[in-house]
Amino acid sequence: MSNVDREVSRYGVLGQPVAHSKSPRIHAAFAKSLGQKLLYEAYEIAPDELGPSLTRFHGEGWQGFNLTLPHKTAAASLCESRTDAAEQAGAVNTLIRTATGWQGDNTDGAGLVRDLVANLGVVVKGKRVLVLGAGGAARGILAPLLAEAPSILAISNRNPWKPEEIAAAMKPLGNIVPRTHLSLKGDQFDVLLNATSAGHQGSVPRLPPGLFAPGAIAYDLNYGPASEPFLAWAKAEGASKLSDGLGMLVEQAAEAFQRWRGTRPETTAVLAGLRAG
Ligand SMILES: NC(=O)c1ccc[n+]([C@@H]2O[C@H](COP(=O)([O-])OP(=O)(O)OC[C@H]3O[C@@H](n4cnc5c(N)ncnc54)[C@H](OP(=O)(O)O)[C@@H]3O)[C@@H](O)[C@H]2O)c1
Repeated sequence: MSNVDREVSRYGVLGQPVAHSKSPRIHAAFAKSLGQKLLYEAYEIAPDELGPSLTRFHGEGWQGFNLTLPHKTAAASLCESRTDAAEQAGAVNTLIRTATGWQGDNTDGAGLVRDLVANLGVVVKGKRVLVLGAGGAARGILAPLLAEAPSILAISNRNPWKPEEIAAAMKPLGNIVPRTHLSLKGDQFDVLLNATSAGHQGSVPRLPPGLFAPGAIAYDLNYGPASEPFLAWAKAEGASKLSDGLGMLVEQAAEAFQRWRGTRPETTAVLAGLRAG
């Protein structure tokens, strides 16, 4: 690498697999739109290599990373500090360089709310919201959703104990109602968010019928083929509006970019470009 290259700030995404990641394309588009020069690369890193790799990257002067599967939870314990969002999520999707290590942040929740409220024009305030799933993504979106003041924020998961634990842990932030899938029978919601990975197996959480209130939106955090089973089910169940999570992906990336670079990039054209293929 030449001296000139060394002066360019370096960022990347770490995962396994990572070849499919859209993050390099998104961050290159952000940098171009702002006239900024940076390097952003995808690195395939095995789980047992994450700790040593982060030490090495720090020594080499890298400025920040995004983390994708399977590193989001493990990275939390490798950071020297974590933001409130990362603590609440129990997962880290963004690393910010400090003088002596890495600060862990989680921008998934901010990205989801931005896409839902600002891009899609969904009103959460005073609405009944149901989150499906209890993994890192579900945990990460709960606090930002609470901040939007829904009338009810319920969480339901295949493993029924996890929502109980999450609701208890997040009690200081507000009221989250843990529900079993079966107990949802007869209730209706205005916003139904799928934060499970069931779509990657071509399946949908086993839910009772009739959950969508008139005018309700079904939002799948997944995108591409993994979002198709849930959105097809939601359409058949009468959801009025459907969205996949591609907008969330772009918005969480914009949040990370802002933390690294101090400027929040425009996202509309980048999202349109991704949808165009
Ligand atoms: N758009 C974005 O920017 C974005 C950002 C983050 C995540 N995501 C997507 O969100 C999804 C969840 O991510 P995560 O990090 O939270 O994953 P995770 O920690 O592995 O959690 C997976 C969740 O899905 C549930 N689940 C898995 N298979 C299921 C099935 N067949 N039926 C019902 N529930 C099932 C699990 O339930 P149990 O507890 O019962 O196992 C768990 O609640 C992933 O597919 C990911 O790609 C998208």
